[in-house]
Amino acid sequence: MQHQYGTAGKRKTKYYDIYPGIDDLKEPARRRIPYFAWEYLDSGTGIERLVDHNRQRLRAIEMVPKFVGGNFDVSLQTELMGETYDLPFGVAPVGMTGLMWPGGELMLARTASRNNIPYCLSTVACQSPETVGPLCDDNGWFQLYTPFDREICLDILKRARDSGFKTLVVTVDVPVPSMRERQRKAGLRIPPQTDLKTLLRVAARPQWAWATLLHGKPGLPLLEKYAKSGDLKEVSSFFGRQLNNVVNLDYIKYIRSQWQGKLVVKGVLHEEDARMLVEAGVDGIIVSNHGGRQFDAAPAAIDALPAVVKAVDGQCAILFDSGVRTGLDVVRALALGAQFVLLGRAFLYGIAALGEYGGDHVVNILDEDIANNLKQLGVREISELKSCLR
Ligand SMILES: Cc1cc2nc3c(=O)[nH]c(=O)nc-3n(C[C@H](O)[C@H](O)[C@H](O)COP(=O)(O)O)c2cc1C
Repeated sequence: MQHQYGTAGKRKTKYYDIYPGIDDLKEPARRRIPYFAWEYLDSGTGIERLVDHNRQRLRAIEMVPKFVGGNFDVSLQTELMGETYDLPFGVAPVGMTGLMWPGGELMLARTASRNNIPYCLSTVACQSPETVGPLCDDNGWFQLYTPFDREICLDILKRARDSGFKTLVVTVDVPVPSMRERQRKAGLRIPPQTDLKTLLRVAARPQWAWATLLHGKPGLPLLEKYAKSGDLKEVSSFFGRQLNNVVNLDYIKYIRSQWQGKLVVKGVLHEEDARMLVEAGVDGIIVSNHGGRQFDAAPAAIDALPAVVKAVDGQCAILFDSGVRTGLDVVRALALGAQFVLLGRAFLYGIAALGEYGGDHVVNILDEDIANNLKQLGVREISELKSCLR
């Protein structure tokens, strides 16, 4: 993809000047979805120190531009684990996306397919892999919370593979559910409460309420088969029993032996974990602190990145997420050694604010911002970025 300096060309849409940045989508998103859904989307855990810290540490990274290299085009096409994507970022797995905007998983899968970027479907999505897989073309990744029961694990892997997902992302940074105080105060429960306060909150968001009527109440369809029930209360208690799991190396090796596609482990911060995962034969590692939603005293993910890059030493791909809100943040993570970047909340703000093409608008914002900042830096290739760090 070639970029003209200072223009998004055909990518300019009606949203271009109204929501030029991802943060501009936050307030419209908040106003369109019920309070409990917003608190689920936006919150962290504890005193939410890490949510801010992730962003502040990204912002603190300075890069030194070079100005006399002449005029050039920038290519953002990125090779990752044998695949070619048009851009160096994709959509992170987000559980219960359909709670934040009904049908959100379907929208983001279509966004990924239209823009040739990956979309990662969560184990706890409101749509099944069988529904979402075919919408992703070849860009579908599937995220796994490892069940205790390995028979269930095998069946989930089979369903993901048969639905067209080629990359498996195993999340390891949820040993137990975190405190999520804001969500609890907002009355977020599974299944959703039907008390007067909740109903009034839903009534205050008529577009969301209407869309929910059309799509049906959000559920966890992947898990219904194993919970042997469509009742959300049963399914969620099954989730509590089966999927809140400390993942050990033995389990990763087992999955490695059972999954023929690319295997990525998500939620790594410590270089010792990274080394062990390389030995277990993973294809990629996502340096992430779950967007600050799990352990509030963790380091900013961007601060953990260089040590993991060094420990892995090119033996598998390194991806990054947590706190990314601009194209320049993507550039910063790439400069520090990530090959690819994922974003969670940014895409959720997009669909909650704008619906079907909200995710595409987020892609456009990032695409133009990355290309522009590479030009500002005087860097033709992502691989040159390191030379601008001090
Ligand atoms: C509402 C929400 C739900 C999430 N659900 C999952 C999930 O089901 N599985 C998972 O591996 N990560 C989950 N994450 C973490 C994201 O995949 C990603 O690591 C995080 O959002 C990155 O930070 P960012 O939101 O600042 O981009 C969730 C994040 C959010 C915001």
